[in-house]
Amino acid sequence: MKIALIGYGKMGKAIESIALQRGHEIVLKIDVTNAGDMTTANLQKADVAIEFTSPHSAFSNVMTCLQAGVPVICGSTGWLDKLEEVNQYCRQHNGSFLYASNFSVGVNIFFEINKRLAELMNPHPDYAVSIEETHHTQKLDAPSGTAVTLAEQVLEHVERKKTFTYHPNTDPSMLPIISKRIDPAPGIHTVTYSSDIDTIEITHTAHNRHGFATGAVLAAEFLKDKKGIFSMKEVLGL
Ligand SMILES: NC(=O)c1ccc[n+]([C@@H]2O[C@H](COP(=O)([O-])OP(=O)(O)OC[C@H]3O[C@@H](n4cnc5c(N)ncnc54)[C@H](O)[C@@H]3O)[C@@H](O)[C@H]2O)c1
Repeated sequence: MKIALIGYGKMGKAIESIALQRGHEIVLKIDVTNAGDMTTANLQKADVAIEFTSPHSAFSNVMTCLQAGVPVICGSTGWLDKLEEVNQYCRQHNGSFLYASNFSVGVNIFFEINKRLAELMNPHPDYAVSIEETHHTQKLDAPSGTAVTLAEQVLEHVERKKTFTYHPNTDPSMLPIISKRIDPAPGIHTVTYSSDIDTIEITHTAHNRHGFATGAVLAAEFLKDKKGIFSMKEVLGL
């Protein structure tokens, strides 16, 4: 498979290493210094593009790939306000797009556990629910995209929670998300249900970036010859 890497930072480099190990070829590497090379002709040399840049550039990079007719995997977080616009464009132009707030197999299993736990905790209002995430200090967005996904899953199943908040809040309809930035930390997420009687906590700890990079390459292999909008749930058959 021929891959275009959009963003050649920590994730771009980790993805390159896994992609080469799996027998793929990197035909284009784009970063800020050569952003002008992201032309339709160059993108069309690739079977699929993998985008890991920043909250500020993800939307326009993804749109450029879709406009070139190249299937695109996006892992950049912190730009979800524009996700629906991308989905609409993709549907209208019969494109191929896969976004995941977290590509690791472990986190996607953790998402399924989070949904089930939220269902079980719904009839128990004595438990206060909260989410905490810890990442390295270079991370630009807070809360993490993964924490937002976890929060959306809790809101879907725990009826007493109406919205999530990043600020300390005692409103029982709010789900607090606490973000911590400490080096080095590739990503820790904890969902806590706490009452006077006991506490139930589920935690996922990433030890390095390999899980995200492997998942992104698996997603690219999955998306290459498909049309439509997909998620890691389909890639992993969860
Ligand atoms: N979904 C996941 O599983 C997952 C996992 C880890 C990180 N992330 C997210 O991926 C993104 C990148 O993470 P990272 O750790 O590689 O960051 P990084 O800062 O190490 O790398 C980002 C790279 O993108 C480049 N870049 C910025 N703007 C660009 C533009 N307009 N065009 C081309 N390149 C541009 C930067 O120069 C940098 O080299 C972040 O949003 C992060 O939150 C997602």
